Amino acid sequence: MLGLPWPRHGFADSRSLRERADAKGLVFGCAVKSPQLGTDMPYTDLIATQANMLVHEYELKRKNVEPSPGQYVFAGADKAMNFAADNGQAVRGHTLCWFQANPDWLEDALMVPVAQREQLLISYIDRVIDRYGSRMQSWDVVNEVIEPQQADWNGMRTDNPWWRALGERHIDIAFHAAKEKAGEAKLYLNDYSVENDVRWNEDRRNTTLRLLERLKKRDVPIEGYGIQGHLKPYRDRFEPEVFAKFLRELEGFGLQVMVTEFDVADVDGPADPAERDADIAAVTKSFLDTALDSPACAGVLCWGITDEYSWLSDLEKYKRADGTKTRGLPYDDQYRPKPMWDAIAAALDAAPARVPT
Ligand code: G3I
Repeated sequence: MLGLPWPRHGFADSRSLRERADAKGLVFGCAVKSPQLGTDMPYTDLIATQANMLVHEYELKRKNVEPSPGQYVFAGADKAMNFAADNGQAVRGHTLCWFQANPDWLEDALMVPVAQREQLLISYIDRVIDRYGSRMQSWDVVNEVIEPQQADWNGMRTDNPWWRALGERHIDIAFHAAKEKAGEAKLYLNDYSVENDVRWNEDRRNTTLRLLERLKKRDVPIEGYGIQGHLKPYRDRFEPEVFAKFLRELEGFGLQVMVTEFDVADVDGPADPAERDADIAAVTKSFLDTALDSPACAGVLCWGITDEYSWLSDLEKYKRADGTKTRGLPYDDQYRPKPMWDAIAAALDAAPARVPT
């Protein structure tokens, strides 16, 4: 048992997570998979009632959007955008530039003179933002660019086709291209494993802060930092003060912050689901209390809403050895709320209200 058993909050009212977030001027939302929208009705209902912001889990990535050079496919992304519009929800765009989920043709296409490589990045950003720009609250312009365990002196991710093609400067190019088109949408850099009290997360925090200093010096128009928040409490210890210090450092850059992909992997946790649920709820409350105490933090999106569709249960390194589903989202695989739901609700209720901007 990591934390004290989470007492199920007897909430005095039956407000949804969306209503609790709205009451504080906070974001609470989740990633969506469009095939399930409108076909899996319990799922559709949870998405509509619990979230005031959505993000595409995979359909707004270049592999899905541009399967062949210049051939754009927006059907999946449009479906989630239209659902959000029908339900009065905001959307964040994930993601314009990433080392993963690129179409198979991209690597070869980058074997061209530098100016044409830049154009391969800029033209894609232009095309996607042209389609959705005014409807996005924010964009993950660049996703997961650091990797201190690789060979770059600055701790940048070198197994990244964009870093190989253009160096660190690909970040500048992407943000300037986005800034030309994105209107009021905030431009985010998004990354993972910057929240825990373990050495390799500390290295990632320091690498991130040094990168932000360089980007600011180069007048790169970065306006937000996304903390993905994929917690793994049975592997990496969460210590609120360590995370709070990093949030203060991000505030120092004048950035908006958001927890963008929150979930809790219970791999290596106890066999009893009730025990894992209590531990997950305890770390959820501690993590979200810390995040929402930061005046820079606009809110939280979970990486899904129900364990039924969590990526955590699909991945070898996070799958549970006993074959049971990961219990890392607010609703279980039967769409029932869990103590994690209570913890999120309690954190939203306890958070300082945001002044309407
Ligand atoms: O739905 C199609 C299915 O119809 C098709 O038969 C199958 C064949 O490939 O693909 C299915 O789509 C898969 C999709 O997940 C559906 O779940 C894609 O192949 C697969 O690539 C996609 O993986 C996503 C992954 O990013 C890569 O885009 C995961 O869902 C998504 O959870 C994961 O999310 C990432 C964030 O973007 C960045 N942070 C880490 C996070 C977890 O890896």
